[in-house]
Amino acid sequence: MARGDGPGRDQPYTERETVEPPDWFVEQANVSDPTVYDRFEREWPDCWRDAAELLDWETPFETVFRGTDGPPFEWFPGGRLNAAYNCIDRHLPERKNQLALVWEGHLGESRTYTYLELYREVNAFAAALRERGVGPDDVVTLYLPMVPELPVAMLACARLGVQHNVVFAGFSADALATRMERAESAYLITCDGYYRRGSAVAQKNKADNARIAVDHDVSVVVLDRLGRDVHLGDDYDDYHDLLAAHKGAEIEPAPRAADDPLFRIYTSGTTGQPKAVTHTTGGYLAHVAWTARSVLDIKPEDTYWCSADIGWITGHSYIVYGPLALGTTTVLYNGTADHPEKDRLWELIEKYAVDVFYTAPTAVRAFMKWGKQYPQQHDLSSLRLLGTVGEPMDARAWEWYREHIGGGECPVVDTWWQTETGAILVSTLPGVDEMKPGAAGTPLPGIEASVVDRSGTAVEANTAGELVVTRPWPGMPHALLDGTDWGSVPDSAEEWRYYPEDSVSADEDGYITFLGRIDDAINVAGRRFSTKELESTVSGVDGVAEAAVVGANDERTGTAVYTFASPEDGYGESELRDAIEEAVVDAIGGIARPKEIVFTPDLPKTRSGKVMRRLLTAVANDEDLGDTSALRNPEILGEIQSTTSRE
Ligand code: WTA
Repeated sequence: MARGDGPGRDQPYTERETVEPPDWFVEQANVSDPTVYDRFEREWPDCWRDAAELLDWETPFETVFRGTDGPPFEWFPGGRLNAAYNCIDRHLPERKNQLALVWEGHLGESRTYTYLELYREVNAFAAALRERGVGPDDVVTLYLPMVPELPVAMLACARLGVQHNVVFAGFSADALATRMERAESAYLITCDGYYRRGSAVAQKNKADNARIAVDHDVSVVVLDRLGRDVHLGDDYDDYHDLLAAHKGAEIEPAPRAADDPLFRIYTSGTTGQPKAVTHTTGGYLAHVAWTARSVLDIKPEDTYWCSADIGWITGHSYIVYGPLALGTTTVLYNGTADHPEKDRLWELIEKYAVDVFYTAPTAVRAFMKWGKQYPQQHDLSSLRLLGTVGEPMDARAWEWYREHIGGGECPVVDTWWQTETGAILVSTLPGVDEMKPGAAGTPLPGIEASVVDRSGTAVEANTAGELVVTRPWPGMPHALLDGTDWGSVPDSAEEWRYYPEDSVSADEDGYITFLGRIDDAINVAGRRFSTKELESTVSGVDGVAEAAVVGANDERTGTAVYTFASPEDGYGESELRDAIEEAVVDAIGGIARPKEIVFTPDLPKTRSGKVMRRLLTAVANDEDLGDTSALRNPEILGEIQSTTSRE
């Protein structure tokens, strides 16, 4: 088979070529003993002691897991620890002058923090937060782009034992306000603005608008990134003034119970409203550290780079907590892959001699489209392992990534997990398992999952079904520990189930291929949005009588947002188009901007008046419509199709 010409996702999985991890990799891998699967199975749940032992506990846990009779589940009960202590302090005796953070920003601007420097800044900022009145039950919202002050602020919160609530910097003022309101968060850390593609992007005005929209008082800290003289009003503090005022302060890390919350993060759920996911201190940190070690093969002496944004869960787990818990050097990049040139990432990998690189399939598809000449301009030989996360990785992109970025040698891990799972649950172990391009892998040791049909019965190999996780895992969030939200209500741990809402199939070897979401969430360039939330935004626009939003296949972003709207009489299409785009950007942010807005006098409806979104998805994908006999207004489909046929 020619390189770059690998089998696509539509080929039977059994015919795929498998790829063995190379010996040189296995010999140095953190985990290379194949008996790990059996041992974790035999010793479950005690096997997870391996993960907990990667951490330093202030008070040892009494037992690994409690809850064999069903929820509530407890991981590492009795144990107390502090996440910031684990990510910083404990590394100081051995490597205080090793780099913890390497930051690359606007056009060659860069900054580094050793573990000692990180320790000092986190302490000073924690002291400042405490002086501002931040106390144990508070939630501190962080609305910052990819700057070192973001992990500093996260770790300062962790040190104090208060929850952070990171809101992606590209989200709108409304989206920020909703998340602050729901979290009852009275503290906001933001910046005046930041640079993107060479131009300044304003941030503080969005934060100001959110502050006005929130019902309660909000105290704001502003980081000066643009170097302009921004006037700060009452209740605003300057980040650097606070640091200077608390220079040299030391804050005792607050010991936290294993299941005390470490942070919350909002994600798109099945409803139109963002859903809060709260992760624990002990179970979460143990799970991210264990997977960062066994799946991403991170070593303390590595330079590791995950190109995600800390605003999403990937950045929390695998830019900040996992890598720092292992005492490695983690790279932060505030920029895009194609600015100033399309070789930007490869330039950085060469500059920092990155060992492990973790990115999204969307990015790989873009690299592939731009061509191999960009990576070829750089020495990428420092790379040892490549990873992807966030969306299905097709075999062709997998092969290209391994060949042109990994020099045909690096193992590639396709890691599946979610905001809710906190850490990776499905992947190959690169030092143990053979890889199958186009399939993520089996559930990790200690994780039990299967593929079922709608009635919950296991389906046969190579048949599409729904993924179900059938055992608790350490990184599970609070809502699942209680066993009530999102999971089924069980009588015992045996019967407990978690449905991630992913459609999958598994081959004879149990390798899982992810096919897409089942619920109303859509995955645009690895970022999760709720179609319901988008729909209610579009329906709220003056002049829109009715709207439906679906995801359609897109070569670049995996899925793209398609909006179908029926206008009220008297409204022009171009004015409505602008208003819809503006409403989406205001409500969520530019990242959710619809790719297509299609106007139609009516939406396809069943006799009982339900919009048939399945048909709209088929129209958007230019697919066969299948059975349309349930429609009250079948003639509308022809009209919509003639509007959407673009070529
Ligand atoms: C999808 C991101 C295929 C999946 C960490 C999941 C994937 C959703 C993969 C979670 C993968 C994540 N292959 N699909 N390797 N990883 N997904 O919460 O649909 O932003 O449910 O977490 O992304 O998205 P979230």
